Amino acid sequence: KIVPVIMAGGKGTRLWPLSRATAPKQFIRFLGPKTLYQKTLERVSDSDRYEAPIILTNEDFRFLAAEQARELDIELSGIILEPIARNTAPAVAAAAAMVRANFGEDAIMQVLASDHEIDAGADYFGAIDTALEAARSGKLVTFGIEPTEPATGFGYIEAGEELASGARKVARFVEKPAEDKAQEMLAAGNYTWNSGMFMFPVAVLIRELEKYAPQVFEFAEQAVLKDESDLELDFTRLDKETFAQCPDISIDYAVMEKTSEAAVVPSAFTWSDLGSWDAIWKDGDQDGSGNVVSGDATLLDTQNSLVISRDMHVAMQGLDGMAVIASEDAVYVGKLEDSQNVGNIVKVLKGAK
Ligand code: GDD
Ligand code: MG
Repeated sequence: KIVPVIMAGGKGTRLWPLSRATAPKQFIRFLGPKTLYQKTLERVSDSDRYEAPIILTNEDFRFLAAEQARELDIELSGIILEPIARNTAPAVAAAAAMVRANFGEDAIMQVLASDHEIDAGADYFGAIDTALEAARSGKLVTFGIEPTEPATGFGYIEAGEELASGARKVARFVEKPAEDKAQEMLAAGNYTWNSGMFMFPVAVLIRELEKYAPQVFEFAEQAVLKDESDLELDFTRLDKETFAQCPDISIDYAVMEKTSEAAVVPSAFTWSDLGSWDAIWKDGDQDGSGNVVSGDATLLDTQNSLVISRDMHVAMQGLDGMAVIASEDAVYVGKLEDSQNVGNIVKVLKGAK
């Protein structure tokens, strides 16, 4: 069975003021009744296919991660707590050490982001089956999404020759390109976006980490071993001093860009990284004027806007393409097209403290 590993330690600063340091985007209810983290848990809850998941998150979010799983009655294999944020490569390396110790050398782990909206239908599970077969043959597998714009926030994958499993070899993996590069790759046509979800044979992942990011694996494994519970899955606290020695790097830069074992499953399932207000607007239920409204609001002569209000009444007039986000204690107003820059506000606010 596949061991699911869910990365849920990101900060989500572009979704301020709903996503906060104390409760980042994956743990928040934006428009529907469930959080993105909970929807991710549900995608790996089929016990014919999956072991109980392992959660990777920051020490600060341990209650959110445990409580939101309990709400859905979903059993966890354990929660690995990072004492400081070191990005995804050290987190995934710690999980790999844990998976090898508990499930053996031949285990296959599926690494999932917790900030995606995915339509988990037949296309999705078909892609999972192909990826599983490719992983069993020793490949580090990712899922390729048909690109629709020259986004700079994603990894790009050039597909190479077809493998026996039906997956393709990765000819080139380019993490977060500059705008002109992104334009070129979109025009070239043979690139897909990296979905940020992976299927890894644990032994191959560890071998490639040791090859391309040796300090990441060395210190991450030591940080796991120093935990008192000693590889018994439950709450595992990574040793702070040891884990701090891991370089701060994502799994994409540390391994996927470098390894020659990468494979891609070009996929047709509906996928979006709900990382910014424009993505939430696109994903939402637009009314006849193109507005997505959640909460108490009056809109006059206003189009193509996203309005979310938790507590207060919001009134808008004569506006187009706006994001108005009113949390309990802060209001953000900006153009939807500037959604990628909301994190700058958080930087300014942090500096002000
Ligand atoms: N445990 C843990 N610790 N999780 C983390 C950390 C960390 O330090 N940092 C980020 N995460 C989690 C986030 O919560 C998210 O679920 C996932 O890891 C990916 O992190 P993001 O910060 O959202 O990455 P990204 O969206 O910029 O880029 C990745 O995803 C893209 C698709 O959404 C890359 O894999 C890109 O190549 C990919 O295209
Ligand atoms: Mg993301």
